[in-house]
Amino acid sequence: MGAQRPAPSLPDLPWFLVPPEQQFFTKRFQESNFVQAIEGGIDTTHAGFLHTRLTLELALKRETDAKTNRSWGDDEQTNKGLSIAMTNRYARFEMLDTDYGIMIASRREAGDAETYWRINQFLFPYYTMPPGHGVVDRTTPKASYGGHAFVPIDDEHTMTWSFTANLVEPFSEKERDKMLQYPNPGLHAGVPKGLLPPTSEPMGAFRGIHNMRNDYGLDYELQRTSQFCGIPDRSTQDNAVQESMGPIYDRGNEHLGVSDSGVIHMRRRLLEAAKGLQAQAAAAPGVANPRSYLIGACGFLLPNEASWIDTAYELCSLQPQFDALAAMV
Ligand SMILES: [Fe+2]
Repeated sequence: MGAQRPAPSLPDLPWFLVPPEQQFFTKRFQESNFVQAIEGGIDTTHAGFLHTRLTLELALKRETDAKTNRSWGDDEQTNKGLSIAMTNRYARFEMLDTDYGIMIASRREAGDAETYWRINQFLFPYYTMPPGHGVVDRTTPKASYGGHAFVPIDDEHTMTWSFTANLVEPFSEKERDKMLQYPNPGLHAGVPKGLLPPTSEPMGAFRGIHNMRNDYGLDYELQRTSQFCGIPDRSTQDNAVQESMGPIYDRGNEHLGVSDSGVIHMRRRLLEAAKGLQAQAAAAPGVANPRSYLIGACGFLLPNEASWIDTAYELCSLQPQFDALAAMV
């Protein structure tokens, strides 16, 4: 982006750097402005409501929900994070400007001595990386990373790409089958089973079977008995909240609070970047350091007095893993 010649290299996003058998990509058409979609992508608080079950007891119950294809209660790290997030639902936010965009940290008390941090990434111009609820540390590095690209089509429509990468080894058949499920328990709503038969209208091959014209497949029984949101597919839950406010929501009607700090900061940075580019006064953020995109999202516990920034870089940076992989080749 911008006037730079020769054009700068593409960002080193982790899912683009692994071999094809370690990548899984899907895409779907979204009926909203792309910034609204980014805002959903970087607001981590919603995951403790929109994507979980009605109660903590249900979220920790070891079972697979046949309506959502999602397994609950079987991962100790996720159980730990969900227990904190569903007990203390009100997170405070802190932000750090980086070469690629913004590192957005949500903070919750976890007992008297510890704080639970969840790190979400916004990467210019339109990428997000959401953290799961799993609590990781140096002994439990993650192998699988994912994120989205909310690519604007026009002011009211977006092509939403979703990416998952295994940094260590090819996806197994079982893992691929799981990512191809619909309703999808992960990031991928755009799998074949989740899409309408292709048509010749624009983006006609990428329209979800559950959309605003059929209430996104809302299942009242699911909502009444086990899940906060009755929409079975996880990404369609996001679609529903991002689209149902209208394709471009009137910001004059907003009542933003502390949990919107990340959204407010992202808007400021996007506006600054757009004005800088328009005036040809600044290169687009991120282009000067494509290597900085080698990052992921994560969650961790720290003593109350400790700063989150060093740990976030240590656990989220993927540079050491890629260096180790390169050394093995
Ligand atoms: Fe979400």
